[in-house]
Amino acid sequence: MAIPKTGQSAQNILNRLQTLRENDINWRSGRLFSYVYPAEPEVEQLIKKAYTEYLSENGLDPTAFPSLMHMENDIMDFLRTMLQGDAETVGHLTTGGTESLLLSVKTARDRARAEKGITEPEIILPYTVHSSFYKACSYFNVKAVTVPVRADMRADVEAMRRAVTPNTVLLVASAPSYAFGVIDPIEELGLLALEKNIPLHVDSCIGGLMLAGMRLAGMQVRPWDFSVPGVTSISLDLHKYGYAAKGCSVLMHRNHAHRKYQYFVCTDWTGYSIVNPTMLSSKTGGPTAGAWAVLNYYGEDGYARLARETMHTVRKIRAGIEAIPGLRIVSDPEASLLDFVTESDVNIFELNDELDELGWKVQLQLASDACPANIHLTINRSHTGVEEEFLHDLVYCVQKVRSGVYPEVEKIVAEESAGGYSEEVLYRIMSRLGVDMNTLPKRMANINRILNVLPDVVMKEVLSSFYARMYAAHP
Ligand SMILES: Cc1ncc(COP(=O)(O)O)c(C=O)c1O
Repeated sequence: MAIPKTGQSAQNILNRLQTLRENDINWRSGRLFSYVYPAEPEVEQLIKKAYTEYLSENGLDPTAFPSLMHMENDIMDFLRTMLQGDAETVGHLTTGGTESLLLSVKTARDRARAEKGITEPEIILPYTVHSSFYKACSYFNVKAVTVPVRADMRADVEAMRRAVTPNTVLLVASAPSYAFGVIDPIEELGLLALEKNIPLHVDSCIGGLMLAGMRLAGMQVRPWDFSVPGVTSISLDLHKYGYAAKGCSVLMHRNHAHRKYQYFVCTDWTGYSIVNPTMLSSKTGGPTAGAWAVLNYYGEDGYARLARETMHTVRKIRAGIEAIPGLRIVSDPEASLLDFVTESDVNIFELNDELDELGWKVQLQLASDACPANIHLTINRSHTGVEEEFLHDLVYCVQKVRSGVYPEVEKIVAEESAGGYSEEVLYRIMSRLGVDMNTLPKRMANINRILNVLPDVVMKEVLSSFYARMYAAHP
Protein backbone atom coordinates (compact mmCIF):
# COMPACT_ATOMS: atom_id res chain seq x y z
CA MET A 1 0.00 0.00 0.00
CA ALA A 2 3.04 2.30 -0.18
CA ILE A 3 2.74 5.58 -2.10
CA PRO A 4 4.03 4.69 -5.59
CA LYS A 5 6.74 6.32 -7.67
CA THR A 6 4.24 7.01 -10.41
CA GLY A 7 0.93 8.66 -9.64
CA GLN A 8 -2.30 6.67 -9.80
CA SER A 9 -5.79 7.27 -11.13
CA ALA A 10 -8.34 8.97 -8.90
CA GLN A 11 -10.55 5.87 -8.99
CA ASN A 12 -7.69 3.64 -7.93
CA ILE A 13 -6.87 5.91 -5.04
CA LEU A 14 -10.48 6.10 -3.84
CA ASN A 15 -10.73 2.29 -4.01
CA ARG A 16 -7.62 2.02 -1.88
CA LEU A 17 -9.11 4.41 0.66
CA GLN A 18 -12.13 2.12 0.96
CA THR A 19 -9.84 -0.87 1.55
CA LEU A 20 -7.73 1.03 4.06
CA ARG A 21 -10.69 1.93 6.23
CA GLU A 22 -12.10 -1.59 6.44
CA ASN A 23 -10.85 -2.06 10.00
CA ASP A 24 -11.97 1.37 11.24
CA ILE A 25 -14.81 1.66 13.71
CA ASN A 26 -18.29 1.90 12.20
CA TRP A 27 -19.39 5.09 13.91
CA ARG A 28 -22.82 5.22 12.29
CA SER A 29 -23.95 2.07 14.09
CA GLY A 30 -24.75 3.67 17.46
CA ARG A 31 -22.24 1.27 19.03
CA LEU A 32 -19.48 3.82 19.52
CA PHE A 33 -19.61 5.80 22.78
CA SER A 34 -16.89 8.37 22.03
CA TYR A 35 -15.00 10.16 19.23
CA VAL A 36 -17.86 10.79 16.78
CA TYR A 37 -21.15 12.66 17.10
CA PRO A 38 -23.18 11.54 14.09
CA ALA A 39 -25.77 13.98 12.81
CA GLU A 40 -28.83 12.64 10.95
CA PRO A 41 -27.85 11.43 7.45
CA GLU A 42 -29.31 14.45 5.63
CA VAL A 43 -27.52 16.81 8.03
CA GLU A 44 -24.28 14.92 7.49
CA GLN A 45 -24.65 15.48 3.77
CA LEU A 46 -25.33 19.19 4.31
CA ILE A 47 -22.25 19.57 6.53
CA LYS A 48 -20.06 17.74 4.02
CA LYS A 49 -21.27 19.93 1.20
CA ALA A 50 -20.74 23.17 3.13
CA TYR A 51 -17.35 21.94 4.37
CA THR A 52 -16.02 20.96 0.95
CA GLU A 53 -17.35 24.23 -0.54
CA TYR A 54 -14.87 25.96 1.77
CA LEU A 55 -12.11 23.36 1.80
CA SER A 56 -9.64 25.56 -0.05
CA GLU A 57 -10.58 28.92 1.44
CA ASN A 58 -8.12 30.22 3.99
CA GLY A 59 -9.29 31.45 7.39
CA LEU A 60 -6.04 33.35 7.81
CA ASP A 61 -7.24 36.57 6.25
CA PRO A 62 -10.78 37.91 6.80
CA THR A 63 -10.20 40.67 4.27
CA ALA A 64 -9.68 38.08 1.54
CA PHE A 65 -12.52 35.82 2.69
CA PRO A 66 -15.08 38.06 4.44
CA SER A 67 -17.69 35.32 4.14
CA LEU A 68 -15.73 33.27 6.69
CA MET A 69 -15.67 36.22 9.08
CA HIS A 70 -19.39 36.70 8.51
CA MET A 71 -20.11 33.04 9.36
CA GLU A 72 -17.87 33.17 12.44
CA ASN A 73 -19.71 36.26 13.70
CA ASP A 74 -23.07 34.55 13.09
CA ILE A 75 -21.88 31.60 15.16
CA MET A 76 -20.79 33.89 17.99
CA ASP A 77 -24.18 35.64 17.93
CA PHE A 78 -25.89 32.28 18.28
CA LEU A 79 -23.64 31.15 21.12
CA ARG A 80 -23.86 34.50 22.91
CA THR A 81 -27.55 33.73 23.40
CA MET A 82 -27.08 30.03 24.10
CA LEU A 83 -24.48 30.82 26.79
CA GLN A 84 -26.51 33.71 28.23
CA GLY A 85 -23.86 36.31 27.49
CA ASP A 86 -24.58 39.93 26.59
CA ALA A 87 -23.62 42.42 23.89
CA GLU A 88 -20.05 42.45 25.24
CA THR A 89 -19.55 38.68 24.95
CA VAL A 90 -17.10 37.84 22.16
CA GLY A 91 -15.21 34.85 20.88
CA HIS A 92 -13.43 33.03 18.09
CA LEU A 93 -13.59 29.67 16.44
CA THR A 94 -10.72 27.31 17.12
CA THR A 95 -9.85 23.92 15.67
CA GLY A 96 -11.00 21.93 18.70
CA GLY A 97 -11.41 21.73 22.43
CA THR A 98 -7.72 21.38 23.02
CA GLU A 99 -6.92 24.56 21.13
CA SER A 100 -9.66 26.42 23.02
CA LEU A 101 -8.17 25.28 26.32
CA LEU A 102 -4.61 26.10 25.26
CA LEU A 103 -5.77 29.59 24.36
CA SER A 104 -7.74 30.03 27.59
CA VAL A 105 -4.51 29.46 29.53
CA LYS A 106 -2.40 31.63 27.22
CA THR A 107 -4.97 34.45 27.53
CA ALA A 108 -4.95 34.29 31.33
CA ARG A 109 -1.15 34.09 31.46
CA ASP A 110 -0.66 37.09 29.19
CA ARG A 111 -3.33 39.14 30.93
CA ALA A 112 -1.79 38.51 34.35
CA ARG A 113 1.65 39.43 33.03
CA ALA A 114 0.38 42.66 31.45
CA GLU A 115 -2.01 43.78 34.18
CA LYS A 116 -0.49 42.35 37.38
CA GLY A 117 3.14 41.81 36.46
CA ILE A 118 2.94 38.06 37.25
CA THR A 119 5.95 36.30 35.76
CA GLU A 120 5.62 32.87 37.39
CA PRO A 121 2.01 32.05 36.57
CA GLU A 122 0.02 29.27 38.20
CA ILE A 123 -3.44 27.91 37.34
CA ILE A 124 -5.67 26.00 39.73
CA LEU A 125 -7.09 22.78 38.35
CA PRO A 126 -9.61 20.51 40.03
CA TYR A 127 -8.33 16.96 39.60
CA THR A 128 -11.06 16.11 37.08
CA VAL A 129 -10.20 18.74 34.42
CA HIS A 130 -9.36 17.70 30.88
CA SER A 131 -5.76 16.71 30.11
CA SER A 132 -5.37 19.64 27.71
CA PHE A 133 -4.88 21.99 30.66
CA TYR A 134 -1.72 20.06 31.49
CA LYS A 135 -0.70 20.33 27.86
CA ALA A 136 -1.24 24.10 28.06
CA CYS A 137 0.88 24.30 31.20
CA SER A 138 3.68 22.33 29.57
CA TYR A 139 3.54 24.34 26.32
CA PHE A 140 3.25 27.77 27.95
CA ASN A 141 5.42 27.35 31.02
CA VAL A 142 2.60 27.74 33.49
CA LYS A 143 2.52 25.85 36.79
CA ALA A 144 -0.41 23.43 37.13
CA VAL A 145 -1.68 23.40 40.70
CA THR A 146 -3.94 20.38 40.97
CA VAL A 147 -6.43 20.15 43.82
CA PRO A 148 -8.48 17.12 44.88
CA VAL A 149 -12.19 17.00 44.09
CA ARG A 150 -15.04 16.22 46.50
CA ALA A 151 -16.37 12.69 46.91
CA ASP A 152 -19.06 13.50 44.32
CA MET A 153 -16.28 14.30 41.79
CA ARG A 154 -17.06 18.02 41.73
CA ALA A 155 -14.49 20.75 42.36
CA ASP A 156 -13.80 21.48 45.99
CA VAL A 157 -14.13 25.26 46.26
CA GLU A 158 -12.44 25.50 49.65
CA ALA A 159 -9.49 23.43 48.41
CA MET A 160 -9.23 25.78 45.43
CA ARG A 161 -9.38 28.80 47.71
CA ARG A 162 -6.50 27.40 49.78
CA ALA A 163 -4.48 26.86 46.60
CA VAL A 164 -4.68 30.54 45.52
CA THR A 165 -1.36 32.39 45.69
CA PRO A 166 -0.26 35.83 44.43
CA ASN A 167 0.83 34.00 41.25
CA THR A 168 -2.57 32.48 40.46
CA VAL A 169 -3.67 33.64 37.01
CA LEU A 170 -6.68 31.37 36.39
CA LEU A 171 -9.26 29.18 38.11
CA VAL A 172 -10.63 26.33 36.01
CA ALA A 173 -13.92 24.46 36.21
CA SER A 174 -15.76 21.94 34.04
CA ALA A 175 -19.38 21.92 32.92
CA PRO A 176 -19.53 18.99 32.79
CA SER A 177 -16.28 17.14 33.33
CA TYR A 178 -15.42 14.56 30.70
CA ALA A 179 -14.62 11.67 33.02
CA PHE A 180 -17.66 11.76 35.31
CA GLY A 181 -20.15 14.06 33.60
CA VAL A 182 -20.79 16.32 36.60
CA ILE A 183 -20.87 20.12 36.72
CA ASP A 184 -18.47 21.83 39.11
CA PRO A 185 -19.99 24.37 41.55
CA ILE A 186 -19.62 27.25 39.11
CA GLU A 187 -21.58 29.80 41.15
CA GLU A 188 -19.35 29.37 44.21
CA LEU A 189 -16.25 29.42 42.02
CA GLY A 190 -17.51 32.61 40.37
CA LEU A 191 -17.73 34.25 43.79
CA LEU A 192 -14.20 33.09 44.62
CA ALA A 193 -12.96 34.43 41.28
CA LEU A 194 -14.56 37.83 41.93
CA GLU A 195 -13.32 37.97 45.51
CA LYS A 196 -9.74 37.21 44.47
CA ASN A 197 -9.93 39.11 41.18
CA ILE A 198 -8.79 36.06 39.19
CA PRO A 199 -10.35 34.95 35.86
CA LEU A 200 -12.48 31.80 35.85
CA HIS A 201 -12.56 29.56 32.78
CA VAL A 202 -15.44 27.11 32.38
CA ASP A 203 -14.57 24.17 30.16
CA SER A 204 -17.83 23.12 28.60
CA CYS A 205 -16.15 21.73 25.52
CA ILE A 206 -18.02 18.49 25.64
CA GLY A 207 -21.30 19.41 27.28
CA GLY A 208 -21.90 23.08 26.56
CA LEU A 209 -24.44 22.67 23.79
CA MET A 210 -26.18 19.79 25.58
CA LEU A 211 -26.55 21.91 28.72
CA ALA A 212 -27.73 24.92 26.72
CA GLY A 213 -30.19 22.69 24.83
CA MET A 214 -31.42 21.18 28.10
CA ARG A 215 -32.09 24.64 29.51
CA LEU A 216 -34.04 25.60 26.38
CA ALA A 217 -35.99 22.35 26.64
CA GLY A 218 -37.07 23.35 30.15
CA MET A 219 -34.86 20.87 32.00
CA GLN A 220 -33.20 21.68 35.31
CA VAL A 221 -29.54 22.69 34.80
CA ARG A 222 -27.37 24.19 37.53
CA PRO A 223 -26.04 27.62 36.47
CA TRP A 224 -22.73 27.32 34.69
CA ASP A 225 -22.52 29.85 31.84
CA PHE A 226 -22.07 33.64 31.44
CA SER A 227 -25.16 34.16 33.60
CA VAL A 228 -22.85 33.36 36.53
CA PRO A 229 -20.91 36.43 37.72
CA GLY A 230 -17.17 35.79 37.76
CA VAL A 231 -17.08 33.48 34.72
CA THR A 232 -14.56 35.08 32.37
CA SER A 233 -14.33 32.60 29.51
CA ILE A 234 -16.05 29.46 28.23
CA SER A 235 -14.86 26.81 25.78
CA LEU A 236 -17.45 24.87 23.80
CA ASP A 237 -16.92 22.34 21.03
CA LEU A 238 -19.22 22.53 18.04
CA HIS A 239 -17.72 19.29 16.80
CA LYS A 240 -19.21 17.45 19.76
CA TYR A 241 -22.85 18.11 20.74
CA GLY A 242 -23.10 20.77 18.03
CA TYR A 243 -22.83 17.78 15.61
CA ALA A 244 -20.53 19.85 13.37
CA ALA A 245 -17.59 18.37 11.47
CA LYS A 246 -14.38 18.00 13.40
CA GLY A 247 -12.04 20.94 13.63
CA CYS A 248 -14.52 23.31 15.29
CA SER A 249 -14.72 24.68 18.81
CA VAL A 250 -15.13 28.15 20.31
CA LEU A 251 -13.44 30.11 23.03
CA MET A 252 -15.75 32.87 24.24
CA HIS A 253 -14.87 35.68 26.63
CA ARG A 254 -17.04 37.91 28.77
CA ASN A 255 -15.64 40.91 26.93
CA HIS A 256 -12.87 42.00 24.61
CA ALA A 257 -10.81 43.41 27.52
CA HIS A 258 -10.12 39.74 28.35
CA ARG A 259 -10.14 38.39 24.78
CA LYS A 260 -7.45 40.74 23.55
CA TYR A 261 -4.80 38.66 25.35
CA GLN A 262 -5.75 35.72 23.16
CA TYR A 263 -4.46 37.55 20.10
CA PHE A 264 -1.02 37.16 18.61
CA VAL A 265 -0.07 40.22 16.62
CA CYS A 266 3.22 40.35 14.75
CA THR A 267 4.80 43.11 12.72
CA ASP A 268 8.37 42.08 13.54
CA TRP A 269 9.08 39.92 10.54
CA THR A 270 9.63 40.72 6.90
CA GLY A 271 6.29 39.47 5.61
CA TYR A 272 2.69 40.74 5.88
CA SER A 273 1.21 41.94 9.19
CA ILE A 274 -0.19 39.13 11.30
CA VAL A 275 -3.19 39.14 13.62
CA ASN A 276 -3.93 35.60 14.75
CA PRO A 277 -6.65 34.97 17.32
CA THR A 278 -5.80 31.27 17.27
CA MET A 279 -2.75 28.97 17.21
CA LEU A 280 -2.84 28.33 13.48
CA SER A 281 -2.29 30.84 10.72
CA SER A 282 -3.46 29.24 7.47
CA LYS A 283 -6.48 27.06 8.06
CA THR A 284 -9.20 25.60 5.92
CA GLY A 285 -12.56 27.38 5.96
CA GLY A 286 -14.29 23.97 5.94
CA PRO A 287 -15.03 23.64 9.68
CA THR A 288 -16.45 27.18 9.83
CA ALA A 289 -18.79 26.60 6.91
CA GLY A 290 -19.74 23.14 8.19
CA ALA A 291 -20.55 24.47 11.67
CA TRP A 292 -22.45 27.45 10.31
CA ALA A 293 -24.53 25.09 8.18
CA VAL A 294 -25.39 22.72 11.01
CA LEU A 295 -26.26 25.54 13.44
CA ASN A 296 -28.56 27.03 10.81
CA TYR A 297 -30.10 23.62 10.21
CA TYR A 298 -30.94 22.86 13.83
CA GLY A 299 -31.32 26.35 15.30
CA GLU A 300 -32.17 26.79 18.98
CA ASP A 301 -35.24 24.58 18.68
CA GLY A 302 -33.25 21.78 17.11
CA TYR A 303 -30.68 21.74 19.91
CA ALA A 304 -33.49 21.78 22.48
CA ARG A 305 -35.06 18.77 20.73
CA LEU A 306 -31.73 16.94 20.49
CA ALA A 307 -31.11 17.55 24.19
CA ARG A 308 -34.58 16.32 25.14
CA GLU A 309 -34.28 13.16 23.03
CA THR A 310 -30.72 12.40 24.06
CA MET A 311 -31.48 12.86 27.76
CA HIS A 312 -34.34 10.41 27.37
CA THR A 313 -31.83 7.88 26.04
CA VAL A 314 -29.39 8.73 28.84
CA ARG A 315 -32.05 8.11 31.47
CA LYS A 316 -32.91 4.73 29.93
CA ILE A 317 -29.28 3.62 29.82
CA ARG A 318 -28.61 4.92 33.31
CA ALA A 319 -31.63 3.11 34.78
CA GLY A 320 -30.57 -0.06 32.98
CA ILE A 321 -27.05 0.11 34.38
CA GLU A 322 -28.34 0.85 37.87
CA ALA A 323 -30.48 -2.27 37.67
CA ILE A 324 -27.52 -4.56 36.88
CA PRO A 325 -26.08 -6.12 40.06
CA GLY A 326 -22.34 -5.50 40.28
CA LEU A 327 -22.38 -2.14 38.43
CA ARG A 328 -22.54 1.31 40.03
CA ILE A 329 -22.87 4.71 38.35
CA VAL A 330 -20.18 7.09 39.63
CA SER A 331 -21.61 10.18 41.36
CA ASP A 332 -24.80 11.59 39.77
CA PRO A 333 -24.04 12.72 36.21
CA GLU A 334 -25.99 15.80 35.15
CA ALA A 335 -25.88 15.62 31.38
CA SER A 336 -25.15 12.96 28.77
CA LEU A 337 -21.90 11.43 30.04
CA LEU A 338 -22.22 8.35 32.23
CA ASP A 339 -19.60 6.46 34.06
CA PHE A 340 -19.73 3.21 36.03
CA VAL A 341 -17.51 1.08 38.21
CA THR A 342 -17.90 -2.63 38.93
CA GLU A 343 -17.77 -4.71 42.08
CA SER A 344 -14.63 -6.78 42.47
CA ASP A 345 -16.16 -9.98 41.04
CA VAL A 346 -16.86 -8.22 37.72
CA ASN A 347 -13.49 -7.59 36.13
CA ILE A 348 -13.84 -4.24 34.43
CA PHE A 349 -10.97 -4.80 31.99
CA GLU A 350 -12.49 -8.04 30.76
CA LEU A 351 -15.94 -6.44 30.65
CA ASN A 352 -14.52 -3.79 28.34
CA ASP A 353 -13.15 -6.52 26.05
CA GLU A 354 -16.35 -8.54 26.09
CA LEU A 355 -18.37 -5.49 25.05
CA ASP A 356 -15.80 -4.87 22.34
CA GLU A 357 -16.24 -8.46 21.08
CA LEU A 358 -19.94 -7.69 20.62
CA GLY A 359 -19.09 -4.51 18.72
CA TRP A 360 -19.69 -1.98 21.55
CA LYS A 361 -16.87 0.54 21.82
CA VAL A 362 -17.02 2.01 25.30
CA GLN A 363 -14.17 3.89 26.93
CA LEU A 364 -12.13 2.39 29.73
CA GLN A 365 -10.72 4.94 32.17
CA LEU A 366 -7.84 3.70 34.29
CA ALA A 367 -7.73 4.08 38.06
CA SER A 368 -6.91 7.53 39.46
CA ASP A 369 -6.77 9.08 42.92
CA ALA A 370 -10.44 9.95 42.42
CA CYS A 371 -11.83 6.61 41.24
CA PRO A 372 -10.93 2.97 40.51
CA ALA A 373 -10.84 1.88 36.85
CA ASN A 374 -14.23 2.59 35.28
CA ILE A 375 -16.17 2.57 32.02
CA HIS A 376 -17.26 5.81 30.42
CA LEU A 377 -20.10 6.38 27.97
CA THR A 378 -20.56 9.54 25.93
CA ILE A 379 -24.19 9.27 24.87
CA ASN A 380 -25.47 11.21 21.88
CA ARG A 381 -28.32 11.11 19.39
CA SER A 382 -26.86 8.07 17.62
CA HIS A 383 -27.62 5.95 20.71
CA THR A 384 -31.34 6.57 20.60
CA GLY A 385 -32.82 3.27 19.53
CA VAL A 386 -29.95 1.00 20.62
CA GLU A 387 -30.55 1.30 24.40
CA GLU A 388 -32.28 -2.07 24.83
CA GLU A 389 -29.71 -3.96 22.79
CA PHE A 390 -26.82 -2.33 24.63
CA LEU A 391 -28.30 -3.11 28.05
CA HIS A 392 -29.09 -6.66 27.01
CA ASP A 393 -25.50 -7.19 25.88
CA LEU A 394 -24.15 -5.49 28.99
CA VAL A 395 -26.06 -7.91 31.22
CA TYR A 396 -24.73 -10.83 29.16
CA CYS A 397 -21.12 -9.55 29.36
CA VAL A 398 -21.30 -8.94 33.11
CA GLN A 399 -22.52 -12.50 33.62
CA LYS A 400 -19.82 -13.91 31.37
CA VAL A 401 -17.04 -11.96 33.08
CA ARG A 402 -18.30 -12.93 36.51
CA SER A 403 -17.71 -16.61 35.82
CA GLY A 404 -14.33 -16.09 34.10
CA VAL A 405 -10.91 -16.92 35.50
CA TYR A 406 -8.20 -14.40 34.63
CA PRO A 407 -4.47 -14.15 35.15
CA GLU A 408 -3.37 -12.37 38.28
CA VAL A 409 -1.82 -9.44 36.51
CA GLU A 410 -1.28 -7.38 39.65
CA LYS A 411 0.63 -10.29 41.26
CA ILE A 412 2.79 -10.83 38.17
CA VAL A 413 3.62 -7.11 37.96
CA ALA A 414 4.49 -7.01 41.67
CA GLU A 415 6.70 -10.11 41.38
CA GLU A 416 8.61 -8.91 38.33
CA SER A 417 9.02 -5.30 39.46
CA ALA A 418 10.15 -6.05 43.01
CA GLY A 419 13.61 -4.69 42.15
CA GLY A 420 12.28 -1.68 40.19
CA TYR A 421 11.32 -1.08 36.58
CA SER A 422 13.45 -1.39 33.47
CA GLU A 423 12.72 -2.21 29.86
CA GLU A 424 13.68 -5.81 30.58
CA VAL A 425 11.27 -6.01 33.52
CA LEU A 426 8.45 -4.64 31.39
CA TYR A 427 9.29 -7.09 28.64
CA ARG A 428 9.11 -9.99 31.13
CA ILE A 429 5.76 -8.79 32.45
CA MET A 430 4.37 -8.46 28.94
CA SER A 431 5.63 -11.83 27.78
CA ARG A 432 4.32 -13.66 30.88
CA LEU A 433 0.92 -12.28 29.92
CA GLY A 434 1.28 -12.97 26.21
CA VAL A 435 1.27 -9.29 25.22
CA ASP A 436 3.05 -8.46 21.96
CA MET A 437 4.06 -4.78 21.96
CA ASN A 438 4.59 -4.80 18.20
CA THR A 439 1.00 -5.26 17.11
CA LEU A 440 -2.36 -3.69 17.87
CA PRO A 441 -3.86 -6.39 20.11
CA LYS A 442 -7.46 -7.52 19.76
CA ARG A 443 -8.04 -7.96 23.49
CA MET A 444 -6.78 -5.12 25.66
CA ALA A 445 -7.62 -6.40 29.17
CA ASN A 446 -4.13 -7.51 30.16
CA ILE A 447 -2.50 -4.40 28.76
CA ASN A 448 -5.02 -2.20 30.55
CA ARG A 449 -4.55 -4.10 33.79
CA ILE A 450 -0.79 -3.71 33.53
CA LEU A 451 -1.13 0.01 32.81
CA ASN A 452 -3.57 0.34 35.69
CA VAL A 453 -0.95 -0.73 38.23
CA LEU A 454 2.22 0.78 36.74
CA PRO A 455 3.59 3.89 38.42
CA ASP A 456 2.75 7.03 36.43
CA VAL A 457 6.25 7.68 35.11
CA VAL A 458 6.64 4.11 33.92
CA MET A 459 3.22 4.16 32.30
CA LYS A 460 4.09 7.35 30.42
CA GLU A 461 7.28 5.72 29.08
CA VAL A 462 5.43 2.57 28.02
CA LEU A 463 2.67 4.49 26.25
CA SER A 464 5.08 6.76 24.50
CA SER A 465 7.32 3.95 23.26
CA PHE A 466 4.30 1.92 22.12
CA TYR A 467 3.03 4.93 20.18
CA ALA A 468 6.45 5.50 18.64
CA ARG A 469 6.55 1.89 17.46
CA MET A 470 3.21 2.29 15.72
CA TYR A 471 4.52 5.32 13.84
CA ALA A 472 7.98 3.99 13.00
CA ALA A 473 9.34 3.57 9.46
CA HIS A 474 7.80 0.69 7.54
CA PRO A 475 10.22 -2.16 6.91
C1 LIG B 1 -14.27 18.60 28.87
C2 LIG B 1 -13.39 18.52 27.65
N1 LIG B 1 -12.51 19.50 27.38
C3 LIG B 1 -11.70 19.47 26.32
C4 LIG B 1 -11.73 18.42 25.43
C5 LIG B 1 -10.76 18.38 24.28
O1 LIG B 1 -11.44 18.42 23.07
P1 LIG B 1 -10.76 18.01 21.68
O2 LIG B 1 -10.64 16.52 21.72
O3 LIG B 1 -11.71 18.53 20.68
O4 LIG B 1 -9.44 18.65 21.60
C6 LIG B 1 -12.62 17.36 25.66
C7 LIG B 1 -12.66 16.21 24.79
O5 LIG B 1 -13.37 15.25 24.99
C8 LIG B 1 -13.47 17.42 26.80
O6 LIG B 1 -14.33 16.43 27.08
